Amino acid sequence: MSTGKLDKVFPRLEEIPEAFRVGSPVEQREYLVNGELLRWDGPLATVRSPVYLTGDAGDEQVILGSTPLLDAEAAMAALNAAVDAYDHGQGLWPNLRVAERIQHVETFLAKMREQRDTVVRLLMWEIGKSLKDSEKEFDRTCDYIVDTIESLKELDRQSSRFQQVQGTIGQIRRVPLGVALCMGPYNYPLNETFTTLIPALIMGNTVVFKPAKFGVLLIRPLLEAFRDSFPPGVINVIYGRGRETVSALMASGKIDVFAFIGTHKGASDLKRLHPRPHRLRAALGLDAKNPGIVLPEVDLDNAVNEAITGALSFNGQRCTALKILFVHENVLGSFLEKFSAKLASLKPGMPWDTNAALTPLPEPGKVDYLNALLEDALSKGAKVVNEGGGEHRHSFFYPALLSPVSADMRLYHEEQFGPLVPVVPYRDVQEVIDYVQQSDYGQQLSIFGDNPAEVGRLVDAFVNQVGRININAQCQRGPDSYPFNGRKNSAEGTLSVHDALRVFSIRTLVASRGTPQSKALLNEIITNRHSVFISTDYIL
Ligand code: G3H
Repeated sequence: MSTGKLDKVFPRLEEIPEAFRVGSPVEQREYLVNGELLRWDGPLATVRSPVYLTGDAGDEQVILGSTPLLDAEAAMAALNAAVDAYDHGQGLWPNLRVAERIQHVETFLAKMREQRDTVVRLLMWEIGKSLKDSEKEFDRTCDYIVDTIESLKELDRQSSRFQQVQGTIGQIRRVPLGVALCMGPYNYPLNETFTTLIPALIMGNTVVFKPAKFGVLLIRPLLEAFRDSFPPGVINVIYGRGRETVSALMASGKIDVFAFIGTHKGASDLKRLHPRPHRLRAALGLDAKNPGIVLPEVDLDNAVNEAITGALSFNGQRCTALKILFVHENVLGSFLEKFSAKLASLKPGMPWDTNAALTPLPEPGKVDYLNALLEDALSKGAKVVNEGGGEHRHSFFYPALLSPVSADMRLYHEEQFGPLVPVVPYRDVQEVIDYVQQSDYGQQLSIFGDNPAEVGRLVDAFVNQVGRININAQCQRGPDSYPFNGRKNSAEGTLSVHDALRVFSIRTLVASRGTPQSKALLNEIITNRHSVFISTDYIL
């Protein structure tokens, strides 16, 4: 029996505040290659919003526009532009001084900030992210760029001196790796993409960037900013199906760094195409099934508050979301009761609605997938605990809190990436330790408990299993200066503001015997600025 929660969730056009309305669909044919916005005359992909509009004839899905479906040839032209701009490390960009590259990125940042309102509006319409979270994504990305610049300055300062060890004098600097392919995810189409794109660029690599599968149009307002801020060929932006475009790029063997956020299967399939895998460095953010573990001695209100935002912020569509909760049987009843009550206070609505905490989902077929997971769990003995849990309408799926979830259910293993909250009751914490050890994922987990001995013991049981353990707090990526990584199928490499600069570069050493002649030669090179690398310039 429907509770009617979602009956009026989709608005009539006139109910949308004017500041947030979108005009007629945008036909984007431009893409960026070698410093020019090229026009694509081939087929286009339709961009659909997760938002439906209610009218007299029923609900209708909003069409936002279309984007180019480039073919392999067009994608290869973009790659070749990046290869030429890098020019075996002899190109203009990889040879600029760090301070000069920083200036280009600062120019870009200023132009990007001018597009804030447009990008935020498109985030809401393309992926259904709330206004507040869309603004946060934009601002966090700008902050990330500012912090990256500061971090690079610091790195460069440390590299601006010579070392003398065992009679050898040397200068060590981080230099670029070559051509980077950057691909981000649809849940953070701006932020997560830029956390690889910007470090790749600022370290002197040249880049081919393919936007995520949703959140594509929102990159369009930034194309001119890219074009006007960087030398030709340094940043190239392509569109289209991965199978046609990215596969060709990987198979060419011309990609040196592969930055990808998506599934481990997608990443492995693409890596396999590279003919010289040992020459490909990868920075991957992949699948996760982060558990939240509620111990018997616990501040239950805090655990519920953290678990609810951990599981349901952006409708659970975060790689760091809490995707399975293990709750000790002594506190199970109260936990479920408090969680349901709190969940009932989350308002379903449209992204621009003030206080809307639950919004529609952008992936076609997602509601059916979530429903199949739900049905599977119900058929094996789980119950929906909260009122209206699992009700759905078009792209909207009202969150379902499910208990008891057990090992024979799909939800126990699969990453739902959506608003389903599976609760597994347990008696012996060893059951949870076994789950984490046997899991194919190893990104993060959360422990909720007050008993120091028990929390301490569990931390030690998990430190060699996941990349981050959160105590009495939900899982999350931030602050961005902390390492963000994962084990098993969850990641390759570590990202943070500082680590990303390392990921997209390699240390190179220029060394010489510490003889008077060598010192005189080096001095001469430095004084007359004969080299970009051998230099003691200090960025103030
Ligand atoms: O989707 C994965 C994101 O890296 C999560 O970032 O924890 O800040 O939401 P977040």
